Amino acid sequence: MLSREVKERLREYETPFYLYDMELLRRTVECALREADRYGYRLHYAMKANNDRRIMEFIASCGMGADCVSGNEVRRAIETGFAPKDIVYAGVGKKDSEIIYALRQGIFAFNCESKNELVVIDALARELGVVADVALRINPDIDPHTHSYITTGLSENKFGISPREITDVVGMLGDLRNIDIMGLHFHIGSQITDLGVFAELCRKVNASYRWFTEEGFRITDVNVGGGLGVDYDVPEMHPVPDFAAYFAVFAQGLDLPASVGVHFELGRSLVAQCGELISTVLFTKVSGLGDDIALIDASMTELLRPALYHSRHAIENLTGTGPERAYTIGGTVCESSDIFARDLSLPELRRGDLLSIKTAGAYGAAMASRYNLHDLPQAVFSDEL
Ligand code: LLP
Repeated sequence: MLSREVKERLREYETPFYLYDMELLRRTVECALREADRYGYRLHYAMKANNDRRIMEFIASCGMGADCVSGNEVRRAIETGFAPKDIVYAGVGKKDSEIIYALRQGIFAFNCESKNELVVIDALARELGVVADVALRINPDIDPHTHSYITTGLSENKFGISPREITDVVGMLGDLRNIDIMGLHFHIGSQITDLGVFAELCRKVNASYRWFTEEGFRITDVNVGGGLGVDYDVPEMHPVPDFAAYFAVFAQGLDLPASVGVHFELGRSLVAQCGELISTVLFTKVSGLGDDIALIDASMTELLRPALYHSRHAIENLTGTGPERAYTIGGTVCESSDIFARDLSLPELRRGDLLSIKTAGAYGAAMASRYNLHDLPQAVFSDEL
């Protein structure tokens, strides 16, 4: 809950903007690291969730590695303090220039997703006179019970190497002298709230590890990806996700030698809760059906999730105190999908009221666009207010 004083200070900034609670970020990151440490697990921040420099510098300073999906992400991770030896580089389509850049930096591992990609990385590594450390991303065909757009480990998805192709891939690896297959990688989807799904992932990881070992590979590292979900409905109930329960599932389910490094790529669960999108009510009106509509100065250009996934974010009227009414909250963009909420009860909205759209720290600012030539949203940090 923001104090009245802080709410007044928010008025000094041009809306819409992202407000980050740095204290909550600290608590979240520390909790994740503490719980992972119980089992010696290694955490990499999936920076696609939020690439703000200050947030990244803070997470790097806590000793996490980074999970990157483009050459520019690798560059920013290094600029913000992540050590190249702690960087994993995933991504279903890597360009040659990006691969060359990452090879030159000496990153920890490339997570490779196809036969073609392995051949290209091998050839580029040969040209540079280096050996690339590679983890094979396996598509384990698991239903993570989440939105279909953020499901990645089903056979029909474009991600990973399908078990049907594995024998083929393994057969050609002998010819690729400039890659070292040191790891296996999995990532089955995002916003996963059913922990049983991760138990199923563990069974597939164990089976894959056994198979590769029997084939003669020396797998030193296994990366189980990210995906832990957060509470979008009542964020204040669980400001810090239950990392203890999450890691316990892996501690129980994974059956790997103690010498094998176990890695995670957490994005949303580290940064979603610490961010909110602050916006101003511009106008109110009544629709043809008689519903109250409030138009706010944020839109799908600052927070795409509701328009893209029909996701719901809790919204608070920070300044209004009148009786509650039900509203449709719409953004400014000329798209009918640019709606943040329908039938949402809030203290009566008036022009100039400030709204907070919660749990927006992950995949919020990072997915902002300049559609309609909107400015990209600024970041404001709680400890600077
Ligand atoms: N590792 C890989 C290979 C990934 O593709 C992702 C997310 C992560 C790790 C991190 O997953 P997380 O811990 O954040 O769930 N824009 C969507 C989410 C897309 C996730 C993409 N991959 C959303 O707003 O819900």
